[in-house]
Amino acid sequence: MLPLAAACALTLTGCKDDGGDNTGDAGVENPGDAGTGDAGTGDAGVALPTPLIDKVLVVGHRGASALRPEHTLESYRKAVEDGADIIEPDLVATKDGVLVARHENEISGTTNVSVVAKFADRKTTKTIDGRPFTGWFTEDFTLAELKELRARERIPQERPGNTQYNDRFEIPTLAEVIALAKELSASTGRTIHLYPETKHPTYFQSVNLPLEDRLITELRANDFSATQATVYIQSFEVANLKYLHGKIGNSQPNWKLVQLMDARNTQPYDFVKAGDTRTYNDLMTEAGMKEVATYANGVGPYKLNIINVDGAGQFQEPTDLVRNAHAAKLLVFPYTFRPENAFLPAPLKTEGPGSTRHPAGSVTEIQTYLKAGIDGFFTDDPAVGRQAVDTFKR
Ligand code: G3P
Ligand code: CA
Repeated sequence: MLPLAAACALTLTGCKDDGGDNTGDAGVENPGDAGTGDAGTGDAGVALPTPLIDKVLVVGHRGASALRPEHTLESYRKAVEDGADIIEPDLVATKDGVLVARHENEISGTTNVSVVAKFADRKTTKTIDGRPFTGWFTEDFTLAELKELRARERIPQERPGNTQYNDRFEIPTLAEVIALAKELSASTGRTIHLYPETKHPTYFQSVNLPLEDRLITELRANDFSATQATVYIQSFEVANLKYLHGKIGNSQPNWKLVQLMDARNTQPYDFVKAGDTRTYNDLMTEAGMKEVATYANGVGPYKLNIINVDGAGQFQEPTDLVRNAHAAKLLVFPYTFRPENAFLPAPLKTEGPGSTRHPAGSVTEIQTYLKAGIDGFFTDDPAVGRQAVDTFKR
């Protein structure tokens, strides 16, 4: 079995395959059965599990990040144009306390900051979630300063078509993302939902820029809760979701909380800080899911925690994760489905020379997970996700 590190390269947050190959093993020790359900049967005549909701939801992960530089208004707009039901801003804070959309607070990989001379002296090294990072950090810039920067493609080798958009688009604020969601709801006639993620909540609390109350204030200020849209607030940490649960109470029936779950043998960073030895695997058990359900409405697991692949890229049997979550009435939204060969299991890659993408392979991959009864999923290419949902037959 390959070690976890071979399956996903860790970046600032979460189990990431931004620059690697997701074929491999996710540390699944005891692949279980596929759960129970009553709508359709699998190849062997076994009942397939079903989603908790009527319509499986397509989440535009960082927008349509396979086709535009991530976390830009243009990426979110493309996601909705391509059929996403939901757009996903990851959130970090500026020096003056404004929530902006970036996957990390260190922004050298997704902006032109490294070539802006006036900001050269802002380069520094910080420890984020226990790991050192050198670069430029959002919390050292005011919003006005961040607005001088422009977004760049994170993985140009896999997404060469995106580099034409380099240095054109701004870093958006959460307020701007909400305004866009409202605009697109009106223009498309579809309700566009929002899936914000609090990034590095323990860290931002430590630098006196906590994210949670800023998020609540912003959502209320923009009256997003008055629309029909749902807001799914996600976090890899536990304590800040519990805080949000207590703070929101029953006041916002269309706000949902989602516990993200990284690779099984890793831990929420707030657990690490608190000396709590539990891992994400502990949260995925039947008892763990019941505990999660006391403060959250859904879970967002790394996809290989649901269906692992072996060293040859062959799908294994689904684990009991979906069954455990659904038994606790928790929605399940795995991450992340990507159409590039670098991220697809070996049998689903295109072999053609020079080819970086194989959307049909991604459709097959997503539909494999749809059979496991997921309620929605994060995809970097919502057109591919839409196709997978719309052509899926149980
Ligand atoms: O939030 C779901 C998924 O986005 C988690 O991974 O690191 O891409 O935010 P990440
Ligand atoms: Ca995210």
